[in-house]
Formats: sequence, structure tokens, C-alpha cells
Amino acid sequence: MIVKVLKQADIDSQMAEEFIKVINSKKHPVLGLATGTSPLGVYANLVKANKEGRVSFKNVTTFNLDEYVGLEGTHNQSYRYFMNENLFNHIDIDKSKTNVLLGVGDYVSFMKKYDKMIEEAGGIDIQILGIGSDGHIAFNEPGTPFDSLTHETALTEQTIKDNSRLFNDISEVPTRAVTMGLKSIMNARKIILVATGKNKAKAVYGLIKGPITEEMPCSILQKHPDCTIYVDEEAYSLVK
Ligand code: GLP
Repeated sequence: MIVKVLKQADIDSQMAEEFIKVINSKKHPVLGLATGTSPLGVYANLVKANKEGRVSFKNVTTFNLDEYVGLEGTHNQSYRYFMNENLFNHIDIDKSKTNVLLGVGDYVSFMKKYDKMIEEAGGIDIQILGIGSDGHIAFNEPGTPFDSLTHETALTEQTIKDNSRLFNDISEVPTRAVTMGLKSIMNARKIILVATGKNKAKAVYGLIKGPITEEMPCSILQKHPDCTIYVDEEAYSLVK
């Protein structure tokens, strides 16, 4: 595990460059994408690089980590909507190659074939991750088995509280989600994780220094052969 302590602007640009390097070196790159506020700067840099002609997404396939159960893709807090708004609508990607788990309709059958779909696409070349204040990655809450594949899960009170800032009212936050599992994530060939701000300090400590335990889902990343952590001083403050 490599840890880089940087300022926000450098985190955003260096992580975007990691993506660009992978995309430009593969014929059919497969990207693992995340939502949340943390990757927003990275996506803005990718949009810029695409407009400047430094990278093309024409041959790229993407798989997103997770989705809320009960939200249509057109809901402004759904992760499909987030990805369209913050990345896909602004780059030269073929939208039919962008995969986001479904939260409505026959979402269970889709969820069950998701890991197979990733495998058939060649596996994820590079996966970006954020982190929850309780140490969750994607929606793998504390207690999720390390060998989990894509599954449905209940959200913890902490996550519902954290994510309520993006909804009109906490009562509107879905209580369930579908998510790639910890094993699905560990299967990615390369992982880059971003965490900034004091609210993430405890999770970042568990990620880097803590014991590898299912109570701190992100700690499994200590076992990944190619994982780089991008943090700012505040998120890193308990590790020093
Ligand atoms: C949600 C997402 C996670 C994300 C986390 C942190 O729970 N499912 O993938 O990492 O929020 O979000 P933020 O980056 O906004 O702090």
C-alpha cells in the first residue's frame, strides 16, 4: 500500500493521471468508478483532459460500485444520475458501455450477474474508491464478509446520517443499497482511494494502521498488491 499525503488539487490531478495512464495503455480499458463528493475533482480533471484530446473514452467500459435501492436512475440522488451529470455526459464515452447497478425493477437479477459481467469485460483495470466515516467502501458496511461479491445490504445509521446532507430530509435517504462486495473490489488489478477531511481520519487510521478486520471493511485493502491511498493532512492526522 502506497500512501500519498497531498493538497486537494494535487490529489485530483494525480488520480486523474492514474486513470489516463491506464486508459492510454489498454485497447479496451475497464474502469471501476465511485460516487460521493470525494471523486468529483478527479472526474472534472478527466473531463478536461478529454476535451483537450489527451484521453479518449471511446473504447472504455465502466462499472460503478453501488446504487441505492428504491431510486430510479433519473432521481437526482441516484448514482446513475450522479455519473451522467458529473462524468458521462461530458466525455466521448459510449453510454451503453457504462454499467451502474440498478436500484429499481429487477435489480436483484442484475446484481446477481454483475460480477460475471465484470469478468467477461476482462476485469477492472483501475478502481477508484472513496471511504465512509465508518470505514465502508462502496456500501460494504462494517461486518461485511471479506469474501462478498455483489449483494444487497442495509445501510448503517451512521451512513444514512452522513449521506443525508445530500437529500432534502434524512427521511428521504434510502435504507438499503446494492453494492459490489469486498471480493469484487479486491479483484481489481489496481486500486486508488481518496479520503479528505477530519471526518475520515478514523477510517483512514483503520485503513492504513488498523488490524485487518471485517469491522473495518477498508482494512482489507492492506492485502491488495497495487493500492495507492491519496489523503490530505486532515484525513491523515491520526496516522502520524
Ligand atoms: C457513500 C458511497 C461510498 C463513498 C462514501 C463517501 O456511502 N457509497 O462509495 O465512498 O459515500 O462519500 P463522500 O466522498 O461524499 O464522503
